[in-house]
Amino acid sequence: MKEINKIDNISILAIETSCDETSVAVVCNGKKVLSNIVSSQIETHKQFGGVVPEIASRQHIEVVIQIVEEALEEAKMTLDEIDAICVTQGPGLIGSLLVGVNVAKTLSYTLDKPLIAAHHIAGHIYASNIDNNITYPSLALVVSGGHTELVYIKSELDFEIIGSTHDDAVGEAYDKVARQLKLDYPGGPKVDKLAKLGEDKYKFPRAMIDSDDYNFSFSGMKSAVINFVHNANQRGEAIVPEDLACSFQTAVVEVLITKTKKAIKNLGIKQLILAGGVAGNSELRQQILNLEQELNIEVLIPQMAYCSDNAAMMGAVGYFYYKNKLFTNPLTLNAKSTLDLEEILK
Ligand code: KG4
Ligand code: ZN
Repeated sequence: MKEINKIDNISILAIETSCDETSVAVVCNGKKVLSNIVSSQIETHKQFGGVVPEIASRQHIEVVIQIVEEALEEAKMTLDEIDAICVTQGPGLIGSLLVGVNVAKTLSYTLDKPLIAAHHIAGHIYASNIDNNITYPSLALVVSGGHTELVYIKSELDFEIIGSTHDDAVGEAYDKVARQLKLDYPGGPKVDKLAKLGEDKYKFPRAMIDSDDYNFSFSGMKSAVINFVHNANQRGEAIVPEDLACSFQTAVVEVLITKTKKAIKNLGIKQLILAGGVAGNSELRQQILNLEQELNIEVLIPQMAYCSDNAAMMGAVGYFYYKNKLFTNPLTLNAKSTLDLEEILK
């Protein structure tokens, strides 16, 4: 096996197939993104109103090798020049994860290169380290299609989840509200766009906003929107989609900001990271950025290309696994649909 004591000039080939994006990147020292190819399956899943796992895994199989080749070509590198292979081990859709994991295991074994099995949410968080520097301790608000968490980051890869959703993830609630508004999957960005044109007229509940913990609940908010639409339809009353989107978004963002502020104040946080696909939300980005002045903290938000699922973020976090010598055996690695963020260093 190659020399793994050097930690400079490390080029990692990263593979991400946890959901409906097949992505491969080459990232040097966790910072320099030499390529980041993302092949999205959205057009396929749109017709079903959401991701169909069986179809997702089949499509990953069809394109993954080509995406590996494209990523190497764009980075102007050969497989021989790569120092390590990193892959998303979980959490995610098991069939989808298995495709990336098997490609990574094969590359690692046949090329005799170290293999890194990385955590998808750690990738979303370390996306912020590409253009900026995470300093410790830090706090991350993770908002995606499958996760809503406040994560305290004690030091490199040392995570503590201090709050999470009891039910739906924010992105999931967005996608379900979008469906009520007859917007295509994934509806989050479309609800966001519509919300900018409306007002907070319907005043939906702000679930758990006053609770003493850092936990969230979004299923009640989602149901309130759905019931509101059903009741209006039964009464033959027109709803204003822009106002509905704005009312939902205002409620969601208010809860996220309130809980995040509480954690920042209680824990004396100096740096806040916004992570995950919903970090692309315009209102949330703006309100999180405002905290910089209001609370005198530093706010890190990844550029848009590194917010939704992509392999560059896995290459970014993969470098920290590499530095900490967190390698795995290519003969025994398996994908995991659930994976504990707090266990990385254990
Ligand atoms: O992190 P991600 O790409 O995939 C997961 O790991 O889940 O997040 C995807 C989620 C989807 O639910 C999508 O609707 C949501 O992020 N999303 C948004 C926005 N952009 C993406 N939600 C609200 N506003 C947005 N602008
Ligand atoms: Zn994600």
